[in-house]
Amino acid sequence: MTTSSSGTPSLAGIRGPIVLVGVGKMGGAMLEGWLSLGLDPKSVIAFEPQPTPELKALEKRGLRLNPVAAAAGADAAALVLAVKPQAAAGVVIGLKLFAGSGTVVLSIMAGTTLQFLEREFVFSSVVRAMPNTPAAIGRGMTVAVPSKKVTPPQRQLVDALLSATGAVEWIDNESFMDAVTAVSGSGPAYVFLLAETLAKAGVAAGLPPELAMKLARETVAGAGELLKRSPLDPATLRQNVTSPGGTTAAALEVLMAPDGLEPLMQKAVAAATRRSKELAG
Ligand SMILES: NC(=O)c1ccc[n+]([C@@H]2O[C@H](COP(=O)([O-])OP(=O)(O)OC[C@H]3O[C@@H](n4cnc5c(N)ncnc54)[C@H](OP(=O)(O)O)[C@@H]3O)[C@@H](O)[C@H]2O)c1
Repeated sequence: MTTSSSGTPSLAGIRGPIVLVGVGKMGGAMLEGWLSLGLDPKSVIAFEPQPTPELKALEKRGLRLNPVAAAAGADAAALVLAVKPQAAAGVVIGLKLFAGSGTVVLSIMAGTTLQFLEREFVFSSVVRAMPNTPAAIGRGMTVAVPSKKVTPPQRQLVDALLSATGAVEWIDNESFMDAVTAVSGSGPAYVFLLAETLAKAGVAAGLPPELAMKLARETVAGAGELLKRSPLDPATLRQNVTSPGGTTAAALEVLMAPDGLEPLMQKAVAAATRRSKELAG
């Protein structure tokens, strides 16, 4: 069973503390989203060895930055792990003070399993999630899988925290996470590659490189936005711009040939799924 979150959440009522560990690209995007949804900076404890000036400025609004854990340590409402997976083993030791029986531990670390998280945070509930980079502009796609201990209010809290950076989908089957990583986690790179190759093809067809890049960039972005806003599925949108015997049909005949984009994309996603499994060990 999968469920999507709905509606725009508010974080204004959360008293926290929300402990955020790692305020890099992803952690930073999440924090920005939370604050824009009304979370009081006083509810946030952040750990980050190289804080940006923006993060330091939040101290004036009450955010606690790199406090001595023993002094700040109280059961967190949520403990959010946003460091690189390689740093996971090192950081969890110092964080146990924050993880009580009422705490939900939310990890966005690629390949870090529920089993690892449950072993490290024995008293707490845990959620494993996989976001993607459009989270930086509030347009991410995150897939989350909860451990059995997660209570409905904890799930609501995590849903609200994740929805601050875009869409959220909940799954029950953790084994989907490798394919999820291959589709939505790594997916933005495939779309950027599409823009790159479309621009190169434009140059090969005689366009000046700058013009070709502008056309490719705006076309990919505009088509993405249309797909986002339209109730129609991608196949219908494609058919709607394809007149029989026209220019689009000529290109699609190549792209949709038996050895065209579909088998290539399947091979690519299968390779990423395999790699995700290997990295998780
Ligand atoms: N970016 C993506 O597309 C994406 C997608 C899905 C999942 N993820 C996951 O998101 C996590 C974060 O990725 P990211 O791209 O945001 O990486 P990032 O920009 O490198 O952020 C990680 C941050 O954690 C900090 N950090 C390292 N050790 C720490 C410690 N002991 N305590 C507190 N903070 C510490 C790092 O500081 P230093 O720079 O000083 O080390 C860095 O600022 C990763 O686990 C990744 O698998 C990322």
